[in-house]
Amino acid sequence: MIDAIISGSYSDVLAIKTARILGVELIKPEVKKFPDGETYVRITGPVEGKKVAVIQSMAQYPNENLIEYFLTVNTLKDLGAKEVIGVIPYFAYARQDERFKEGEAISLKIIAYLIEKAGTDAVITVDMHRHRVSDMSDIFSIPVTDLSAVSELTRYMMKYYNMENPAVIGPDAESEAWAKIAAKILNTDYYILSKQRFSGTEVKVSVKDKLNVEGRDVFIVDDIISTGGTIVNAMEILKEHGAKDVYVACTHPILVMHALAKIYEKGAKVVIGTDTVNSPISFVSVAPVIAEELKKY
Ligand code: R5P
Repeated sequence: MIDAIISGSYSDVLAIKTARILGVELIKPEVKKFPDGETYVRITGPVEGKKVAVIQSMAQYPNENLIEYFLTVNTLKDLGAKEVIGVIPYFAYARQDERFKEGEAISLKIIAYLIEKAGTDAVITVDMHRHRVSDMSDIFSIPVTDLSAVSELTRYMMKYYNMENPAVIGPDAESEAWAKIAAKILNTDYYILSKQRFSGTEVKVSVKDKLNVEGRDVFIVDDIISTGGTIVNAMEILKEHGAKDVYVACTHPILVMHALAKIYEKGAKVVIGTDTVNSPISFVSVAPVIAEELKKY
C-alpha cells in the first residue's frame, strides 16, 4: 500500500477523497506562479523512503498541469521518495496518438516519455483515449493501468433517473467497449454509431448497422465530451430514428465551446460526467476506483 497521497493543484478535491478512502496521509505541495508565469512547487511534508501517489489530472489546463506534475514528481524522487505512482485521471494529449499529417508531433508518445523521465514508476489513468493503442507497452516502458468509470456512471444514472426500456448508444466505433459495459449493467442491448471527424470541431455521425431505438429512451456513453459535436450529432440521428428521452454520460467532461448548452438545447434529459475533470456535471467521483487500485501497490 502507498504511504501518502500528494495532491496536484488541479485534482485537490479528488486527492482528498482518495486519501480519506484509503486512510493515508495527504501532502499538499505549495504551488505558486512566479511573476513571469513560471511554476513554483515545494513539497511540504517528509517523503523520504515513502511510496507515494501524485494525483493530477491533465484537464482544462493541460500544459500547466503537466509542468506542475513534472516538477512535483522529480522533486519527490530527489527528496528520496521510494516509489512515485502517477495518478493521471484525465490523460491529455492522448488523442494525438498518430502522425495524421506529415510532420506532426505524436504527442502521446512524447508526453508518456516525459512522464517517465520525470521519475514516475507507474501510471494509473481512467478511460484513456487510446483508440489506436491496444498495447500500452508501445507507449510506456513503466506499468500503466487504465481503469474505467463507466460502471459507476451507469449505476449513478440507474439510481437517479428512470430510463424506460433504454438502449445504450456508443457514438463511434471506439466507444464500443464502454457501451458494452453499460448495456451489461442495464441488462439491455447496445448500438454503435459511425463517426467521421473532419477537424477538432467538425464530425458527422451516421448509422452503421441496425438501430432499434423507436419509442425507447437512449443512454449515450462516451469517454470525452469536448466540443459536444459528437453527442449533438448522435442525438440528431437518434431522434430521427424515434428515440424518446436522451441520457448522456461521459468520463471526462472537458466541455469546451458551450458543449453542455448545445447538448441540453438539443433536448438531452441529463448529462453526467466524473471528477477526472472539474466541471458542473462532475457528479460521479472516480476516487473509489482509484483508491481500490492504489490498494494493490
Ligand atoms: C473521440 O474519439 C472521443 O471518444 C470523443 O467522442 C470525442 O473526443 C468527443 O469530442 P467532441 O465532444 O468535440 O465531439
